[in-house]
Amino acid sequence: MSILETTHSAEDAVKDYVVAQESKDQLRFLTCGSVDDGKSTLIGRLLYDTKLIFEDQLAALERDSKKHGTVGEDIDLALLVDGLEAEREQGITIDVAYRFFATDKRKFIVADTPGHEQYTRNMATGASTADLAVLLVDARHGLMVQTRRHAFIASLLGIRHVVLAVNKIDLVEYSEAKFNEIRKDFEAFANGFDFETLQAIPMSARYGDNVTGRSDKMTWYQGPTLLEHLERVEVGEHEIEAPFRFPVQWVNRPNLDFRGYSGTIAGGSVSVGDEVVVAGPAKVSKVETIVGPSGEVPAARAGEAVTLTLEDEIDISRGDLLAAPASRPDVADQMAAHLIWMSEDKLLPGRSYLLKIGAKTVTATVTEIKHKINVNTFEHVAGKTLELNEIAFCNLALASSIAFDPYEANRTTGSFILIDRMTNATVGAGLVWFALRRATNIHWQALDIDKQARAEKLGQKPAVLWFTGLSGSGKSTIASIVEKKLHLEGRHTYTLDGDNVRHGLNRDLGFTDEDRVENIRRVGEVSRLFTDAGLITLVSFISPFQSERKMARDLLGEGEFIEVFVDTPIEECRKRDPKGLYAKADRGEIKNFTGIDSPYEAPENPEIRVHNVGRDPEDVAEEIIAYLKDRGVVS
Ligand code: ADX
Repeated sequence: MSILETTHSAEDAVKDYVVAQESKDQLRFLTCGSVDDGKSTLIGRLLYDTKLIFEDQLAALERDSKKHGTVGEDIDLALLVDGLEAEREQGITIDVAYRFFATDKRKFIVADTPGHEQYTRNMATGASTADLAVLLVDARHGLMVQTRRHAFIASLLGIRHVVLAVNKIDLVEYSEAKFNEIRKDFEAFANGFDFETLQAIPMSARYGDNVTGRSDKMTWYQGPTLLEHLERVEVGEHEIEAPFRFPVQWVNRPNLDFRGYSGTIAGGSVSVGDEVVVAGPAKVSKVETIVGPSGEVPAARAGEAVTLTLEDEIDISRGDLLAAPASRPDVADQMAAHLIWMSEDKLLPGRSYLLKIGAKTVTATVTEIKHKINVNTFEHVAGKTLELNEIAFCNLALASSIAFDPYEANRTTGSFILIDRMTNATVGAGLVWFALRRATNIHWQALDIDKQARAEKLGQKPAVLWFTGLSGSGKSTIASIVEKKLHLEGRHTYTLDGDNVRHGLNRDLGFTDEDRVENIRRVGEVSRLFTDAGLITLVSFISPFQSERKMARDLLGEGEFIEVFVDTPIEECRKRDPKGLYAKADRGEIKNFTGIDSPYEAPENPEIRVHNVGRDPEDVAEEIIAYLKDRGVVS
């Protein structure tokens, strides 16, 4: 199982199912193809032929076939699968759907994902848990751009077994030559991916040829039917043969005498008496007991949910990773990974996101997009941001070191999701390629003279007054008066002003979203240093994004960050237009101008909100000073 499941609620159902069916042999597979390839009909055929349809569903199906069907008087099997009314009306499948069926040999979980390019994220979600992919092609058209895309994503997500379903073979007179041509094309193309098995099957999902029953129209084909192949193909030993990995989901401590660690084994196996190491602190202990769903067991393996107790009392918490001491995971705070972007809001390097790997969550930023990958041609292309459904190879930096594996070695401990810190939405899925190390061994240097010592010497409490608002809102005017007043009172201050900092430290940055993120990241870091130096720092930047203002806030201590929202309506700023920039922007001479063609996200809960129309800046400054006195920043 993989962490990517958390992106889809239906996965919880799958998880329950998996736990319940633990002892049975099962195959999780994914179907890829577009509506036109007959994907829904194929799944419908599998379910229909394995007698998984109940009488009442059948009656409904016959009724619906007459209403929506595209196959005349026959039952339209696609309707069995295209569950949502809206989808039917549009004739497309729009989300990942999971379906279960079984034969006496195996149980199956099918992830049915849409074929269109804009649904790459759905396919990635389905593929992350699948052992095998069925790639559909229409025998009349052969390999399409999307077939290549599906094969690429399947391979990227670690699927090692592929079936090329050459469907609608009835429409090319069951031609062996046509089938062989498509099969050879695909084999040549798939050479570059390391699929372990690749089975091409000529079929007609509509008439059932070679799906569950052998076709008498293709005596030239000697291979298995689709169902036979799905029943027999050997998959999944990989996880069990992998080194032991156990992400701790929670620490089970019902009373003082018992301390167990619960979770699902993500790789390999474990027996009572085995040595395990807590990755990171590298503390070693031995497994004392293993408790499964129905009591103590001598051993357990990948996929099983267990509680472990250890011989020694060591400090282990939720999110830690227990591993085999002889083959330990990487522990690092930087990594290179493939990232699949799943959000309408683009990825901005430098922005801080939450990265969740197993039960561990840390803040992380994408430090560099090495290249984007064109999913249709596999070409590497340069890029500064990522849009919905795009895939890139990136470097990431984490706030602290965590334990993980390359995705290739373990699909659970090697995959993560990125979460937006403001909305809590899953915005990306990542596949770890390798850990990056800081070659220079840079450690935080503890200094004897600290913030407190410096602040005492200056006789003040350090703080950051962070002015945010539109260009022309009056930030700099107010900040400058506040600084003068503080200065007169003997306070030690410094002002960081957008226009000024952009002449030096940030002269390499422009006004695209990604540059503004970097602009504020740097200024946030500088204000942290100034705070550490004991100063009262006044920051006057548009700082249009909530996310980066929060990042700056999080860098500082409780009460040190004071957000001042200079709330001036854009009409008023435009009227003032002190630098003539609104006029220029209106004439189209400046691009990405805040409030015109670049967004401004107003603070929701600023410490101070200034309604700055028709007010004397002196009075506003006095109010801010009063606030500082009230909070004890200045006495
Ligand atoms: S921020 O958005 O990245 O925080 P910052 O405060 O550094 O912006 O710089 C804003 C100043 O740059 C504005 O006050 C204005 O003088 C100038 N400027 C030039 N071009 C733009 C633009 N496209 N959008 C906003 N401000 C601009």
